[in-house]
Amino acid sequence: MSASESTVHTSDLPLPLARRGKVRDVYAVGDDRLLMVASDRVSAFDVVLPQPVPRKGEVLTQITAWWLARLEALGIDHHLITADPDEIVRAVPELEPYREAWARRAMLVHRTDPIMVECVIRGYISGSAWKEYRRSGTLAGEPLPEGLVESQRLDPPIFSPATKAVEGHDENITFDTVVELEGAETADWLRDTSLAIYEHGRATAAERGIILADTKFEFGRTADGRILLIDEVLTPDSSRYWPADTYQPGRGQPSLDKQPIRDYLDSLNWDKRPPPPDLPDHVVHETTRRYQEIFRRLTGVELDAFVASPSASRPAPQEEPAP
Ligand SMILES: Nc1ncnc2c1ncn2[C@@H]1O[C@H](COP(=O)(O)OP(=O)(O)O)[C@@H](O)[C@H]1O
Ligand SMILES: [Mg+2]
Repeated sequence: MSASESTVHTSDLPLPLARRGKVRDVYAVGDDRLLMVASDRVSAFDVVLPQPVPRKGEVLTQITAWWLARLEALGIDHHLITADPDEIVRAVPELEPYREAWARRAMLVHRTDPIMVECVIRGYISGSAWKEYRRSGTLAGEPLPEGLVESQRLDPPIFSPATKAVEGHDENITFDTVVELEGAETADWLRDTSLAIYEHGRATAAERGIILADTKFEFGRTADGRILLIDEVLTPDSSRYWPADTYQPGRGQPSLDKQPIRDYLDSLNWDKRPPPPDLPDHVVHETTRRYQEIFRRLTGVELDAFVASPSASRPAPQEEPAP
């Protein structure tokens, strides 16, 4: 079976299941590592749709690996050990017979204790932030300049944290609440680190004709007290990616990835509550194509040709001195 024909809706690997999220099946590997398997499940309006999108999980994992290699070079500590299937099998040999179910969509990561704050950075005003601003002229409870229009660029970008709700919708919180939860020093660090990563992401995407409108980071603590960047990073699921060539402030922008699904769902009389409607094949195919296109535009490499090797960005093993 070729990769494009194989979709994974729900994985079932011979490891203890730590958690099944909206998109990821997370398995424990010993006490201190996790195998995070991104499925092809897709959600819209916070509801998981019945049809998986082929290759979506692979794209999310490979995009995360690509960004993390760049961020590592900038000195950002993160959770990824490897996304290379051969390295994963070396670390967890019992996975070998099940490659079809996880290869290229799985990451082996350091297990952390997640900090329960979603670190959202907004460089353009959209979605729930636009709704809040229109209602009260604020973002995350702090006043913003008057006269902003929908999708307008924000300079500097704004840290607008949210609680990490175990169930249901995340709730926006103020920076003061982050200080109460995590202490002033950690709160400052989370904000400043998130802003720095976003700025790098926004500039990198802009060079490629893509607007990184906003994004969400998660961080977690290791047993020895370090804070690592965890979860997916700068993926289309955790970020709003817009095409730069059609950008026009004053209205909502099309999504580079999910627009075909949104357009289809908007054409129905669905009330956005479960159960969700089925997606026709052409919508699924167009969405698959979009995800691969984002990967290619961002990285400059075709998805099929890309081999994630985060180890390549680590210092090479010491070589024997030349005679
Ligand atoms: N290194 C890590 N250590 C512990 N938990 C992690 C790590 N990386 C990601 N996670 C958690 O794993 C889950 C990923 O599954 P996902 O399907 O994205 O869940 P969700 O529905 O909460 O978004 C998230 O709850 C995330 O916080
Ligand atoms: Mg998630």
